Amino acid sequence: MENRLIDNETSFYSKAEEYWKEIPPTVDGMLGGYGSISLIDINGSKKFLQKFLGEGEGKTRPGCALDCGAGIGRITKRLLLPLFRTVDLVDVTQEFLDKACSYLGEEGKRVENYFCCGLQDFQPQLDRYDVIWIQWVIGHLTDEHLVKFLRRCRNALRPDGLIVVKDNVAYEGVVPDEVDSSVCRDLPLLRHIVSRAGLCIICEEQQQNFPEEIYQVHILALR
Ligand SMILES: C[S@@+](CC[C@H](N)C(=O)[O-])C[C@H]1O[C@@H](n2cnc3c(N)ncnc32)[C@H](O)[C@@H]1O
Repeated sequence: MENRLIDNETSFYSKAEEYWKEIPPTVDGMLGGYGSISLIDINGSKKFLQKFLGEGEGKTRPGCALDCGAGIGRITKRLLLPLFRTVDLVDVTQEFLDKACSYLGEEGKRVENYFCCGLQDFQPQLDRYDVIWIQWVIGHLTDEHLVKFLRRCRNALRPDGLIVVKDNVAYEGVVPDEVDSSVCRDLPLLRHIVSRAGLCIICEEQQQNFPEEIYQVHILALR
């Protein structure tokens, strides 16, 4: 649907890359000036994820996680490294991954890979990840690329693994953002993309206690 809004796919991606290259490698930079909501965000994510983690039947194991559109590793540092033995990061902006090395500190030794790559081109290793966390980045992919990326993620999951998408949702339709070259989709479209990728939504929640002036943020657990 948003492909009508994206008339030139090449410039959609290159404009986003240019935008992120100019953004400071800080928590505030990752959150568009809303660095103050980072803790609320992380606590909401932790509560959501912990419902699925454990060692029993059907539980997702705390082995290896992939942070997609990881930026400087804000989520890796506060959510994934405390819960998983190892983490990989993937982001299109090399400067953010460079910063992640120092930002993550001592615990960052448990990061196995820093992949500098657009998600539209990224091929996660088959059968490697217990959790694939995709937050505040899906709007940078076209519908087609997002469907294909989610399919590759499904193939990269270990048994009982989980994909989590946490992102802004529009009230209706697709809202383009010319500044960072992204789109914001409504929930029916997002659910349709998930189903086209051959995935099921096993849990869906709205993040609470975010400022009223920003988009609603939803968390979807997929298998
Ligand atoms: C809003 S920031 C979110 C960072 C991180 N997920 C967080 O919540 O702290 C968006 C991130 O997506 C990255 N990004 C933008 N387009 C991308 C693409 N096509 N593939 C991979 N990463 C992308 C940017 O470099 C930036 O780090």
